[in-house]
Amino acid sequence: MPDSPPRPVTVPEFHRARAAGRKLAVVTAYDFTSAQIAEAAGVDCILVGDSLGMVVQGHPTSLPVSLAEMVYHTRMVARGSKRALIVADLPFGSYQVSPGQAVRSSAKLLKAGAGAVKLEGGVRMAEAIAACTRADIPVMAHIGLTPQSVHRMGGFKVQRDAQALLEDARAVEQAGAFSLVVEGVPAELGAKITATVSIPTIGIGAGPGCDGQVLVWHDLLGLYEGLRPKFVKRYAELGALATAALAEYCREVRDGTFPTAEQSFQ
Ligand code: KIV
Repeated sequence: MPDSPPRPVTVPEFHRARAAGRKLAVVTAYDFTSAQIAEAAGVDCILVGDSLGMVVQGHPTSLPVSLAEMVYHTRMVARGSKRALIVADLPFGSYQVSPGQAVRSSAKLLKAGAGAVKLEGGVRMAEAIAACTRADIPVMAHIGLTPQSVHRMGGFKVQRDAQALLEDARAVEQAGAFSLVVEGVPAELGAKITATVSIPTIGIGAGPGCDGQVLVWHDLLGLYEGLRPKFVKRYAELGALATAALAEYCREVRDGTFPTAEQSFQ
């Protein structure tokens, strides 16, 4: 008897995982092939992050990413994914104007294949989260080091204002967010935020006390040589591996050892 296919990860499954104390593994991905690899590895959730502005497009921040680009990448990831929950980032400028703008932009990401959206901000974004939730659009909130606020923060800096962050966490929970990314806060505060709210927290540079963890694809696999924050663990060095493979290819093309009869039509 073949095994029944694994159940898709849904928003309620996120809550069940927290209740059962099962940690959630989240990774970013931006295209079809990467999504297939993440699925095969068994991740619970794929985040189509606007970090693609840095690791795919080569910008110094995520600010230039457009909603149309997020829709494009979300479509690719959705084609490569069957089980993981797909969460797509609302990029800078696509939700801050009004709750209505947040709903309109989120709807585009859901039509592209996302099962939920993520937006940055706590208390300030509560109305936008509530409006999306009323429209049945699940929202993952994001507090702490919020990369779209890089200019206000004066850089990508660890956030330590415990009182403000706890207020943010309570506000997004009350507004209806189904989960919460906590980025760049001391580990003790990550654990305190997790204990304060009843929704699952997904940490990135927020210590082991969160309900799950998220890392950027290119960081985790050793493909990005830009910023290297302390919280990144590189599980592979695919950048070095790819460079060596391509150098060998160049050598073989130049010395005539590629292609051979094996790669040729007779
Ligand atoms: O854009 C992104 O990839 C993110 C994660 C780092 C949480 O927001």
